Amino acid sequence: MPTDIPEKQAAQPAPEALKSPPADFVLVCADCGHSVPYAPNLPGCPRCKSEWLEARYDYAALGRSLPMQLARRPKDLWRYRELLPVRDPTSVVSLGEGYTPLVRAANLGLMLSRPHLYIKDERQMPTGSFKDRQATVAVSALREAGLTEVVIASTGNVAISYAAYCARAGIKLYAFLTSMCPAEKMREVALYGAQVIKVTGTYDLCKEIAQQFARERNMYYDRGLRSIASVESMKTLAYEIAEQLAPLLPPSAHGRRSPSGDGQFPTPWRAPDWYIQSVSGGLGPIGAIKGFTELKQMGLVDRIPALACIQVDGCAPMSNAFRQGLETAEVVKVPRTRIATLATGNPGRSYTLLKRAIDEYGGVMESVSDEESYRAIHVMAKMEGLSMEPAAAVSFAGLFKLVRSGHIQPDDVVVVNCTGHTFPVEVETLGENWLRNMELPAETPLPQEGLLAALHRLDERVHSIAIVDDTADARRLIRRILQAQGAYQIYEAEDGRAGLELVRSQHPDLVILDLMMPEVDGFAVLDALRADEATRDIPVIVVTAKALTPEERDKLAGQIETLLQKGSFMDDELLADVIDALT
Ligand SMILES: Cc1ncc(COP(=O)(O)O)c(C=O)c1O
Ligand SMILES: [Zn+2]
Repeated sequence: MPTDIPEKQAAQPAPEALKSPPADFVLVCADCGHSVPYAPNLPGCPRCKSEWLEARYDYAALGRSLPMQLARRPKDLWRYRELLPVRDPTSVVSLGEGYTPLVRAANLGLMLSRPHLYIKDERQMPTGSFKDRQATVAVSALREAGLTEVVIASTGNVAISYAAYCARAGIKLYAFLTSMCPAEKMREVALYGAQVIKVTGTYDLCKEIAQQFARERNMYYDRGLRSIASVESMKTLAYEIAEQLAPLLPPSAHGRRSPSGDGQFPTPWRAPDWYIQSVSGGLGPIGAIKGFTELKQMGLVDRIPALACIQVDGCAPMSNAFRQGLETAEVVKVPRTRIATLATGNPGRSYTLLKRAIDEYGGVMESVSDEESYRAIHVMAKMEGLSMEPAAAVSFAGLFKLVRSGHIQPDDVVVVNCTGHTFPVEVETLGENWLRNMELPAETPLPQEGLLAALHRLDERVHSIAIVDDTADARRLIRRILQAQGAYQIYEAEDGRAGLELVRSQHPDLVILDLMMPEVDGFAVLDALRADEATRDIPVIVVTAKALTPEERDKLAGQIETLLQKGSFMDDELLADVIDALT
């Protein structure tokens, strides 16, 4: 058991790791296949000098023993310690990281017609990003190797994570950060006692300089993807997702492949059909795919998910190459994106590794614009209560794109990695009018009328809208979209008859109408509204799940403002139609 585990976990039942040392594992060279026993900090393959080594464990034995042991362990990243490259439990540097929540995105799922949508909430890691996985394992491995100084290059989050864990381990960190990294992030790195070196230039250049600095001073340089600890750390994403998904998924959710004939899944854990992550250097998805592959080898899951790697348009060396079917990445010399966190212009071998995984298990590499990502921040905050940084929102903008392109099917079980917390709230996401200013007279006590008038102005609802839909979930979704905008008085009716009564009594400025409802359906509601002089001119937007026949379309023509298909419109599209109809 790590000696460094915080209080709440140290109080758990006696750890068995002290009694049984972690299983042995070997390092296998990716280039010549040579295999050597693990030694901390091995620089490369002793036979061919390749830097690309991969850790392999006794999967058959672990598949049998691990699930039982896990039942008695705290819910953190180190519960999978036999599969992590730190052997001495006293070396572990922990801040209680891991086992972040896997939350269902019900509102978003409703909006996209994808009911099995889950978010791995990595914002809840100790320093607010998924890079804490890497830092806890890598810094522990450094402590085990007896190192006291380390050099890294980072676009921000890796430096913050390493700085925090190095502080706990008593290791001096030299963090080379690109000048594109926000000043707030740089200050946080410095706060933990690390030396920050700001490099004005690209991230790729920043890496080169950091490496040279380390070489000259004979210091350890963290090689990211070529460091065993870093890749191994990110596997835990897959382990946690598969362990957490099993009890969350309803038996009916079986995605692209069905369960065994008796309706039961043959494995105790469940892998999703899709794993989606925003990508810079590619460490996260490479680790995650290794994790799912190992779980399958251990017999704990029955599939390896399709992988969606999402990049930003202005720095998309992987997705540009993928689109053209290239075997190597198309290096981006000068990244043009405001999302500096994802500015790796030359991903090197990680493209090849990720492409190989996609060729084998399915998936795609895609890119999204900065604007789509900022918009996704706002959508995720107002629809699901999750406030995230731009680099994390890139995954969600990618999700929207993949749903639209039909890559992600309605039955698919999808996990999106929400990689990091808002830092700070981006000005681009909110647009105008996000703040209501309340200016009160200086005199006290306040004149009562003045206060009431000010409060009244604060919540002025200019227009009223009636939602007529027999599905409670659909009403909730539409109400949420309208409410987040702010200024509407909203009425709801749960069938056609109640809808007609509501419209007659409240005389709203707009009706949002479903077509398929029992007894009095949407067509009948529309006929009745148009037949009555009092309601004839109220605009109507139809939101329906029904595939309309040409005759039905004709019937609606001229009677309604717009027709929206349920599950295939985004919040801003509905809002744009609403604003059009009201002006
Ligand atoms: C918040 C966030 N998301 C995504 C990424 C991309 O990570 P990867 O290194 O796995 O490509 C990073 C990298 O720093 C990040 O900080
Ligand atoms: Zn070799």
